[in-house]
Amino acid sequence: MKLPPLPLVDSIDLSDLEFWNRPDPEREAAFAALRRHRPISFHKEFEPPPGFPFPRGPGYWAVTKHADILEVSRTPEVFCSGKGTNIMDLPPAFNEFFGSMIAMDDPRHGRLRRIVSRGFTPRALGKLEPIVQRRARETIDRVMDSGACDFVTEIAAPLPLEVVCDLMGIPESETKSVFAHTNVILGLGDPEYVPIGTNPIAAALTSGKALADLMSELAKHKEGKHGDDLTSALLDAEVDGETLTPPELASFFVLLVVAGNETTRNAISHGMKALCDYPDQRRKWAADFEGLVDSAVEEIVRWASPVIHFRRTATRDTELSGQPIRAGDKVVIWYSSGNRDEDKFERPYELDVARSPNEHVGFGGPGPHFCLGAQLARREMRVMFRELFRRLPDLEITGAPEMLRSNFIHGIKHMPCEWSKRAA
Ligand code: HEM
Repeated sequence: MKLPPLPLVDSIDLSDLEFWNRPDPEREAAFAALRRHRPISFHKEFEPPPGFPFPRGPGYWAVTKHADILEVSRTPEVFCSGKGTNIMDLPPAFNEFFGSMIAMDDPRHGRLRRIVSRGFTPRALGKLEPIVQRRARETIDRVMDSGACDFVTEIAAPLPLEVVCDLMGIPESETKSVFAHTNVILGLGDPEYVPIGTNPIAAALTSGKALADLMSELAKHKEGKHGDDLTSALLDAEVDGETLTPPELASFFVLLVVAGNETTRNAISHGMKALCDYPDQRRKWAADFEGLVDSAVEEIVRWASPVIHFRRTATRDTELSGQPIRAGDKVVIWYSSGNRDEDKFERPYELDVARSPNEHVGFGGPGPHFCLGAQLARREMRVMFRELFRRLPDLEITGAPEMLRSNFIHGIKHMPCEWSKRAA
């Protein structure tokens, strides 16, 4: 990727929705300028549109360097998650559906994480492996004969969605509606998912409630039956005598479908685009797929940075790399910027499927909120790229990706691709 000239830092407005409509290289150049000249900078918050139910927030610190992101992540007692993880403070009604452990601190966070972690042990994931393989195979089976499709909606999106639904024991008849609701929740700034004139807060709450209701229904059917999906395990789970309450189960489900779908889908989509843009790297990986699969998958997560930022709040007056921060200040860690930090990565704007070491922060920094699904996501990506390399080896992206307008998810909504039927 080639960057345009770096802009002046005073001209950078991270809260302007138009900024998030610009092409990736322009956005990258802005973050490169911030890292170089003002690595921790204060920004105003986005201007709510007329009729929005709450006022503009007080602003936030933007943390752009890899080392500072690590520092914030590993000191949750100073930079907490419990006061909100989105830049904007969300109304209390949101907590009912979106208040799961990602927005909690210890001891509540630790308690929930201990209970739900049992669904993500190496043994539990090993059991899921044949399902991931079957789902990936079926995805390619469905498109193979057509010779062309929308890479995002027909190849990258179904696998993570179906796997989370399989994991939780959601019936297949519900997957389409789960998909539509997660699109709304993560695409609030994009008119394709939340049409102009629709109240985004109401749209998110409606979708959150629909997902939570689905889980409650499911829990009723599964209670006491001791099935072998995660929902049953969580209903049966007792860690130190504790179980999840029904609202905790519902909001954990909302977190899982939201956190596990779009992220993995975007990693696969950006990864495929990058492999087409860097054919030498594609050839190198194809020549030794199994030998390079681990480093290539990590590099794709760094490259894609599907999650752009998360927020913390300072619990006391403190300092970060010399920058005083007051108790109550919002602190936003820009994972996407950390993953391009020139002081951490050599040639950060080049894809290198053999990159090692590769201490990216695509799954978050070292700390209590490091991605619970990282191992599952890695498995899904391994299986999907193996399938793509084997069965659609000459797949090419044939048009510009249509990007999601969001400052939170680095998303591709649509991306045309083609392959020769003979190769398939
Ligand atoms: C490439 C795919 C993925 C990426 C890039 C990603 C990224 C992230 C990031 C950056 C965080 C940290 C949040 C913070 O800083 O507060 C996180 C947390 C989390 N992720 Fe992922 N994720 C991915 C896939 C998944 C999958 C497949 C699942 C589950 C099915 C999942 C479940 C979670 C959960 C539950 C948390 C919250 C953990 C906690 O608060 O203790 N993620 N993820």
